[in-house]
Parts: sequence; structure tokens; C-alpha cells
Amino acid sequence: METITLLQGKRVLLGVTGSIAAYKAVDLASKLTQAGALVDVILTEGAQQFVTPLTFQGVTGRAVYADMWQTAGDDALPVHIAHIGLAESADLFVIAPATAHTLAKLAHGMADNLLTVTALAARCPLVIAPSMDGHMYQHRAVQSNLALLIERGAYIIEPDEGRFASGLRGKGRLPETPDLLGHIRRVLGANGALAGKRVVVTAGGTREAIDPVRYITNRSSGKQGYALAQAAIDAGAEVVLISTIQHLPVPVGVTHFLVDSAEMMHDAVLYHIQSADALIMAAAVADFRPAQVSEQKIKKTSTEETPTLHLTRTSDILLSVKRFREEHQRPQVVIGFAAESQNLLENARSKRERKGVDMLVANDINAADAGFAVDTNRVTILSAQGEVHIDRTSKARIAEIIIGYLADMLA
Ligand code: CTP
Repeated sequence: METITLLQGKRVLLGVTGSIAAYKAVDLASKLTQAGALVDVILTEGAQQFVTPLTFQGVTGRAVYADMWQTAGDDALPVHIAHIGLAESADLFVIAPATAHTLAKLAHGMADNLLTVTALAARCPLVIAPSMDGHMYQHRAVQSNLALLIERGAYIIEPDEGRFASGLRGKGRLPETPDLLGHIRRVLGANGALAGKRVVVTAGGTREAIDPVRYITNRSSGKQGYALAQAAIDAGAEVVLISTIQHLPVPVGVTHFLVDSAEMMHDAVLYHIQSADALIMAAAVADFRPAQVSEQKIKKTSTEETPTLHLTRTSDILLSVKRFREEHQRPQVVIGFAAESQNLLENARSKRERKGVDMLVANDINAADAGFAVDTNRVTILSAQGEVHIDRTSKARIAEIIIGYLADMLA
């Protein structure tokens, strides 16, 4: 797993309680560590019936706290101040999985083990992921404890629906690690450079229908756009993602609108920029669409000859945005992309002028290790400040750099 800049060097306190889902907390601790966080784990007695301190020590490489009355080892904090030390150094306190019993104790300020004592001492944001049988989760006692915790500012990760170890089905399962990580990023990023800003991102290639089953599209995977949406969340923005993609996980916190054609994307963008501070057009919008869409599937028997497709131009979304901005002075910042197969810089420079964007991110689509469908990219960023070349790196890293520039431009 790649490091996540937002998590780099962050102190995450992970509290684990006695639920069968405790084994999933091992994966969470591991992924947080791989992402660059320093993870201190506190296990309740119940949790230790399912997983051992050694397991967590193995994945975090750090002392694990499993007993309020005994030191956790040579490199651990001494018993009498462990709760204060852990609470004071934490950037975030995550309790996953949280049982009904621990929720009740947290809601009522009870402090009978290291986890609950530390929760009282901590001043950092508290993230709680309840995990229990469906009927237990629906119980009014549990729901009112959750309501109390929310009222006091705790961030609750809603459990998933599905099958329980008991064989019953319902809502109460601990979400999978990527989901938990997404929530953690959302909370840690909340006060970032884009806090209070609304950003619209487009992603994916549009599909232009020929008949009910066929369409014209392009090779865009949407990965760069999704990475931008995640980076904007990491920076604390409110993010609207307008995409043609159905198979990529939508970053936690993002509002997603699925569109199909260039015309649909055009209308969605023009609607959402009315309340946006910035627009990032990472989508590969088709320039042409079939002039006529056949209502029925075109049959090979219906004509002797091979059919000819007549194409017509789609609307240029960025040009419509340019007109909108001239009239309404918003969004404040517009970033475009350029996919070029020749004369990259020359074409990109004139495209930036023509499209009226503040920043243009140009990529050379001929390179096999960058651009469409792969996880890496190599781009040149053109703006009024000049041109910056970014050598091959992950799309996530490129997204962070672009979001960094965006934050500067909006500041
Ligand atoms: N774009 C758009 N509306 C279109 C086509 C493209 O808003 N109908 C946006 C893309 O999202 C991208 C930028 O314009 O941010 C440049 O897209 P690109 O395909 O590189 O350029 P084109 O405008 O299509 O110009 P050309 O075909 O001449 O390269």
C-alpha cells in the first residue's frame, strides 16, 4: 500500500473492543501503519478473547496497551500516566469495532478500563465504528447512546448491512478497511486547506449512444478524477463528483452523480457550478456523438450495406463554463485537462487560452506508463505562474499536487 500524505506521521489511537469483528481491526492497524501513521492500540479484555496484543504489535511495530494496571513493555508509557500520554499525543482516536457495552460506557462517561479512561482524557476527534448483531444495533438503548455521542461531537461510522456470524442478517457489520480508512481521512482532513470550499470534479470518458446497446467512448478510466476527489476530501473540501464510472469506489464523503453522455455531463456541471468555488474537468468528454441515435438496435439484416455513422459536435463544457463565469464570476477557479498525442506543450498552451481555464494539466497519451487506465501519470501543469513538469508518479500524488495549487489559488 502507498503512503497517504494526510496520514504521514499522524498519531492514531486505535481502541479495539470485544466483537468478532476485532480481527478486522488488525487489518486496519496494518493499513494505517503502511500509510504512514503511528498507531497505538488499546485492547479491552473482551477484545483479547478474539485477538492478541502480539498480533497488533506485529503489524504496528509499537507497544500495545492491553491492561490498565500493567506496563505494556519497555518502550511503553508507564502505567500511571498511560491514558494521559496516549490521549495527549493522539491526532485521532478510532474505536473499531465498538461493542454495545463500550458505546454505553462512552456515552455515560464511565471509565473502568484503559480505553474508556483514555476516551475521557482525549481532546482529539473521536471516531466510533459500532459493530454488533442487527437487533442489538437497532435497540433503543444503543440508538440513544449513539445519539448522545453524536451530540457531543463523535463521528459515527454507520455499520454495513449483511450476514452476521450468528447467521442472521441485518445492519451492524463493521465496514471493510478501505471504507474505515475513507472515514478516517475525512475526519483528519476536515480542517484542511479547502475546508468550507465546494469543489466539483468530473471523471471518466463519456458514452455517446449509437443505438440502445452500442456507444462510442474512449479509454479514460476515471482514476485521475477519483484521485482528485479523494485529495480534495483530504484537504477538507465538500466534493461533488460527476462521473461516467460505475466500478471505482467513490471516496468517502464525496457526493457522486453518475452521468452518461457529454450532454448529460454538460447539464450536470452547469447545474453544480452554481454553488461551487472550483471546477476540475478531468473527464474525457467526447467531442463528437452520433448525429442520430437509432431507437432500435441496428440489425445487420436491415440493410444490405454497412451503415455509415454520421457524427456531430457535442457541446464544449469548458466553453459553457467560461460563459457562465463571465456572467456570474464563479466558480473562482477552473482547472482543465488536456490529452495530447503530439506537440504536447504547444497544444496545451493554446488550449489553456482557448478554454479560459486558470490551470491546465497536460498529459502525453502516447506514453505507456502514464495517462489512460494506468495508476501512474506524468504531467505538465500550465498556469499564469508558469509551467511545472511532474515526472512519473502515482495519480494520487499528482492529485495532491493539483489540490495544493487549487488551495493556493482559492486562498
Ligand atoms: N472538454 C469539455 N467539453 C468537451 C470536450 C472537452 O469540457 N466537449 C474538456 C475536458 O474535460 C478537458 C479539456 O476540455 O478538461 C480538454 O479536453 P481535450 O479533449 O484535451 O481537448 P478538446 O477540447 O477536445 O480539444 P482537441 O480535441 O482539439 O484536443
